[in-house]
Amino acid sequence: MTLLKTLAIAAAGLMLTLGAAQAAEGQQPAKGISFSFEGPFGTFDRAQLQRGYKVYKEVCAACHSMQYVSFRNLHEPGGPEFSEEQVKVLAAGYTVQDGPNEAGEMFERPGLPSDRFPSPFPNEEAARAANGGAYPSDLSLITKYRPGWYGTFNQLVNGIGGPQYVYSVLTGYVADDQLTEELRAEQPEGKHYNPFFANGHWIGMPPPLADDQVTYDDGTPATVDQMARDVSAFLAWTAEPKMEERKRTGFMVMIYLGILALMLYLVKKRIWANAH
Ligand code: HEC
Repeated sequence: MTLLKTLAIAAAGLMLTLGAAQAAEGQQPAKGISFSFEGPFGTFDRAQLQRGYKVYKEVCAACHSMQYVSFRNLHEPGGPEFSEEQVKVLAAGYTVQDGPNEAGEMFERPGLPSDRFPSPFPNEEAARAANGGAYPSDLSLITKYRPGWYGTFNQLVNGIGGPQYVYSVLTGYVADDQLTEELRAEQPEGKHYNPFFANGHWIGMPPPLADDQVTYDDGTPATVDQMARDVSAFLAWTAEPKMEERKRTGFMVMIYLGILALMLYLVKKRIWANAH
């Protein structure tokens, strides 16, 4: 019994230190901006997801793949909900590799709604070679993979902050001429200072956004802040495309459990009514 207790305490202690070590690398907690899809009843904002897709396509897709997303997902309920026709046109704008054909060769053709998003680079080596050795990670699951903040209690209450992490990285650059002498002295070649980046504060991604980089179809002004919010929301959806369905089911289950609890209580009262 005492041995078990000691072990449990040791394990708990270890977990605490691990959590601290992860956070202690100097990564700044993400900015606490809020999104429409937070909380038990939060839903995605369709217009925002459509804008976020545009930012991904016109900016991020030059370097980052999104390999778990198919074009047709953009039409499915719970997401950006582009029309079927829009998705067909949008897929056909991409070139995908297919094959082999009867001659055993791979060939290229326009994309179909059932295709996944093609990657900008043929392999990791090519991606690194084009980015000064840094690897632009796949973005499909990034908002689940990278927390914006640490601490079990904090994450329980505020979520893991994945979309906030992406937003903070995109808006968290410090221009080279704003850096202190010390930081300037340690700046590696081709890296930029970004205290929100999870992998040390020198990031190999040049600041990807500038005002008016995309033109939104709904007329929303394309500020860096707006584009960063929109693409972060879009990436929250790619990481959990069935979020709205999950929340709806969860809500129905809670109602069901509530009714069940009430009935059990009444039955119990009835059965024990005469048993004093
Ligand atoms: C010119 C190429 C390029 C473009 C364009 C680009 N990125 Fe990156 N990105 C990179 C590289 C390279 C890294 C890896 C940096 C490193 O490891 O130092 C990276 C890293 C990131 C990270 C951190 C990943 C992690 O592992 O924590 C995020 C988030 C990110 N990019 C999001 C975006 C988004 C969103 C866009 C579009 C608005 C975008 N990037 C546009 C090249 C690019």
